[in-house]
Amino acid sequence: MIEQWNIGMMEEKHILKKEQNKMIMEGNLNKDIDYRAEFLKLKKEKNAILLAHFYQISEIQDIADYVGDSLGLAQKALESEAEIIVFAGVHFMAETAKILNPDTKVLLPDLEAGCSLAESCPPLEFGKFKEKYPDHIVISYINCTADIKTMSDVICTSSNAVAIVESFSKDQNIIFAPDKNLGGYVNRITGRNMVLWDGTCEVHDILNTEAVIKLKMDHPDAKLIAHPECKAQLLELADFVGSTTAMLKFTMNDKSKKFIVATETGILHQMRKESPDKKFIIVPTDENCSCNDCPYMKKNTMEKLYLCLDNLLPEITLSDETINKSRLPIDRMLEISKKLNII
Ligand code: 13P
Ligand code: SF4
Repeated sequence: MIEQWNIGMMEEKHILKKEQNKMIMEGNLNKDIDYRAEFLKLKKEKNAILLAHFYQISEIQDIADYVGDSLGLAQKALESEAEIIVFAGVHFMAETAKILNPDTKVLLPDLEAGCSLAESCPPLEFGKFKEKYPDHIVISYINCTADIKTMSDVICTSSNAVAIVESFSKDQNIIFAPDKNLGGYVNRITGRNMVLWDGTCEVHDILNTEAVIKLKMDHPDAKLIAHPECKAQLLELADFVGSTTAMLKFTMNDKSKKFIVATETGILHQMRKESPDKKFIIVPTDENCSCNDCPYMKKNTMEKLYLCLDNLLPEITLSDETINKSRLPIDRMLEISKKLNII
């Protein structure tokens, strides 16, 4: 018996054998197994690489062949010569890896590692939205499904969004999707008036501006660094706004000894590793809980990494048509980034 999974995509269906899925999701785990060691052994045997985003749990970041932001991960996926890419990130990132390297098997340890931002932009509704603006081009943030990428002219990430927008003339009409916070930030920086799709990241959008003001008063010597997926009120208070890689580099190069960090908690691992003498304070969420752990990023575990590589499931599959159509706007982004030396 098989079970079908559809993570908000129109045409791609991920089919898993029910028994396999049950084992992977519920974890048919043996406490005597050292899953880290077994995964590393399998990785070598099967000629696989592990790509991990900065929001992954520390244990996964520590064994990854590459840890980075969305742009860096896409660039590594493109260059990879491994037979298998195990993607420790979320669904849209693994899809991007498949689009860029279609002959490689791409595995995502937990298919439910989605993204609220990508889910906020269903292709049918986005198609109707686009129809209202026939003279606009579409710039989409990489945090969107492959279907939305097929409907876009160029993709951007938080590393290159400003540069991508500025590569078009001032009089070019633009729709920016799906993150209204990032789009609003780019509008303010570039003086554009892009039409924004109304999507947000459920993690960054609820970071608490009042708490930031209090933290700044309590720690006047600290610099506030923020991811552009945060609300405008918070970004206006920031000393630095950038992608996860840019935030990490800022903490490494800046003379300050203390940073208030407005993003997902996973990035703290690399910040502390790179600058053990510096102090990092994470911005709390509205509910005063630890909701700035992305629930999707944190679905991946060491056990699931091992099980997915052992079973070669769940695998990301896309039709040739989707791969070909979504590749064009990603290639445009990579070309512009290369020209401008953005990595
Ligand atoms: P970057 O790491 O590319 O800045 O993106 C952050 C994010 O939210 C990824 O989902
Ligand atoms: Fe999506 Fe936000 Fe999680 Fe990034 S942090 S994967 S944008 S929900």
